[in-house]
Amino acid sequence: MDEQIKAMQAEIEAAAASITDSKEMYLLRKQYLDNKTGKISALMKNMRDLPPEERPAFGKVVNVLKGWALDFFSEQDARLKAIELAQKNAAEQIDVTMPASKHLCGALHPQTLIANELIDIFAGMGFTIFEGPEIENDYYNFTALNTPQDHPARDMQDTFYVSEEFLLRTQTSAGQIRVMENAQPPIKILSPGKVFRSDDDATHSPMFSQMEGLVVDKGITLCDLQGMLDVFAQNIFGENVKTRLRPSYFPFTEPSVEVDVSCFACGGKGCRLTGWIEVLGAGMVNRHVLENCGVDPDVYTGFAFGMGIERIAMLKYGIPNIKMLFESDVRVLEQFRG
Ligand code: DAH
Repeated sequence: MDEQIKAMQAEIEAAAASITDSKEMYLLRKQYLDNKTGKISALMKNMRDLPPEERPAFGKVVNVLKGWALDFFSEQDARLKAIELAQKNAAEQIDVTMPASKHLCGALHPQTLIANELIDIFAGMGFTIFEGPEIENDYYNFTALNTPQDHPARDMQDTFYVSEEFLLRTQTSAGQIRVMENAQPPIKILSPGKVFRSDDDATHSPMFSQMEGLVVDKGITLCDLQGMLDVFAQNIFGENVKTRLRPSYFPFTEPSVEVDVSCFACGGKGCRLTGWIEVLGAGMVNRHVLENCGVDPDVYTGFAFGMGIERIAMLKYGIPNIKMLFESDVRVLEQFRG
């Protein structure tokens, strides 16, 4: 009898010795201790076959075995679970010296930065914003701006026509007409927006942005224009920058000027930017344009100006090719993160 018990103990210990997993240990435990199918439970059942006088002693011995097995398996279970927990903790350890994964953070596009800066500067001088439509009709984009059909100045802007009447606006100047048709002076508006021209090289893109300005009131002169341009140029390019007006031609202004700023890189001494840099077109609003909009040119005068936003961005940031502003190359754009 004792041998049988000892043999079973040895058998359990031998089987347990090769087990390294608490789940397997549980299965082994079941083989011996399961109430219905366990080998130790089976010994109890065998008791029925013994003569009654042997039964108490046998029962006692089996109970001792059962007690031993219960203790043995709970020790094994605790031992294996402790090992497993230690392994799990080791696997989940955090290396606080590891570099954190980077979250890329967006930034405003240089075109947006310049547009916002321009809006801030002109809002500070009392301008309000007007945004016209990108699909315009021929009248607003050309005819009302003193550029009737067959006018040679139409060739200055290669136009994308949508139909005979409609086109993709070639200039935000179209907004001047829409504003003056709907309001009497004093008028002081800034009109930013996309414009489109069939033109494509390192400094031209078929789609680009302009910022148009219009001021109409009694007694407005070219001096007012230049005073305002100085404020604009010094804010955008630097305190010491000067402006220079050169005679030019636009159908909707008379006189018309092209505006240069003194080089903010070399101070006008001469460098890759040639000392003076052209930044925008401007002029006194042509009296025909005022008349077309129902504004009396004998009472009111005005000035207008229009600039390319990408051109200002390229000059200010030294961007050599306008395409860099449309390619969305993160290596370029991330340099503008504030
Ligand atoms: N619309 C002109 C262009 O696209 C720019 C311009 C010149 C706008 C003179 C004006 C202006 O308002 O007065 O080239």
